[in-house]
Amino acid sequence: MALLSRRAACRAADLNPQGLTEAPVQSGISVKPGLRYKVGTTSFCDLNNDYLVPSLPDQLPAGAVVLCRWHVDLLEGMLNAIRMSFAELHHWTAYASTMPSAEMIARDLEDGDESFRLGTKWLYALCDVDLDEVVGCAGLYLQDDTDSLDIGYWVRSDCTGRGHATASVRALTDAAFKFFPQVKRIEIAMDRANLASAAIPRKLGYMLDREEDRPVESDGDSGRGFVWSVERSTWLRMAGGQTSGS
Ligand SMILES: CC(C)(COP(=O)(O)OP(=O)(O)OC[C@H]1O[C@@H](n2cnc3c(N)ncnc32)[C@H](O)[C@@H]1OP(=O)(O)O)[C@@H](O)C(=O)NCCC(=O)NCCS
Repeated sequence: MALLSRRAACRAADLNPQGLTEAPVQSGISVKPGLRYKVGTTSFCDLNNDYLVPSLPDQLPAGAVVLCRWHVDLLEGMLNAIRMSFAELHHWTAYASTMPSAEMIARDLEDGDESFRLGTKWLYALCDVDLDEVVGCAGLYLQDDTDSLDIGYWVRSDCTGRGHATASVRALTDAAFKFFPQVKRIEIAMDRANLASAAIPRKLGYMLDREEDRPVESDGDSGRGFVWSVERSTWLRMAGGQTSGS
C-alpha cells in the first residue's frame, strides 16, 4: 500500500535530486534500419530519503519479442504499428477514436518515458527480434491507493496469433512481482465482447475476478467488462521455473 500511494505522489516537483540514483546506460537494440532505440537509465526514486523504490528494467525479454521502454526514438516504429492496426485499435480502444498524429504519438512516448521514470506507469513497445520492428505495446499501470497493478496490451494486426500478447503479459507479471515486492495482485480488464483479449489472462492462469459495467468508448464495447486477476502467491506457485524470456 505504502509503495503505491507514495509512488503515485512521486511527481517531478517532489523529487529530491540527491535521492535519484541512476544505473549506467546499457547498449540499445535497433528496431528499424536507421532508428536506434537507446535504452535509458534505470531510475530510483527516494522520497524523503527513507524509501528507495526501484523501477522496472528498460528491457524485458518475452520470447520472440523484447519489451522496450517507451522512448521518442521509437516514434517511426510506433506510428507504423498504429497505422497497420488502426481498424482493430479503433474498434476496441478509445485511444484510437481517430488516427493519432505523429506529434501526438511523439508526445505520448515522451510522457511514457517520464511516467516510467516517476514510477506511475511502465509502458513498453513490443519489439520483434526477427522483424526488428515494433509489433505492439504492453504496460503496467498503478491503481490508486492499492497494492495492485493493471496490465494493458495490443499487438500489431499483422502479427496477432503468434503468442506475443501472452508472452508479454507473462513477462510483465513476472517483472511486477519480482521488482515490486509490495504488489500483491495484478489485474487485467477488457470489455467482455473482446474474446481475443480475454483469452490472454485465462491462458496464463489469471482467474476471472468479476464482471462489471464499464463505459462504452468504442465501437466494439458492450458496456460490460471482465476483470481478471492473479495474486502473487498464486503466480509464483504456477510459475514453477518458467521464465518469460524462453
Ligand atoms: C487481443 C490481442 C492483444 C491478442 O494479441 P495476440 O498476440 O494475438 O495474442 P496471443 O497470440 O498471445 O493469444 C491470442 C489467443 O486468443 C485466442 N483468440 C483469438 N481470437 C479469439 C476469439 N475471437 N475468441 C476466442 N479466442 C480468441 C487465440 O486462439 C489465442 O489463444 P491460443 O493461443 O490458445 O490459440 C490482439 O488481438 C489485439 O491487439 N487486439 C486489438 C486491441 C485490443 O483488443 N487490445 C486489448 C484491449 S483490452
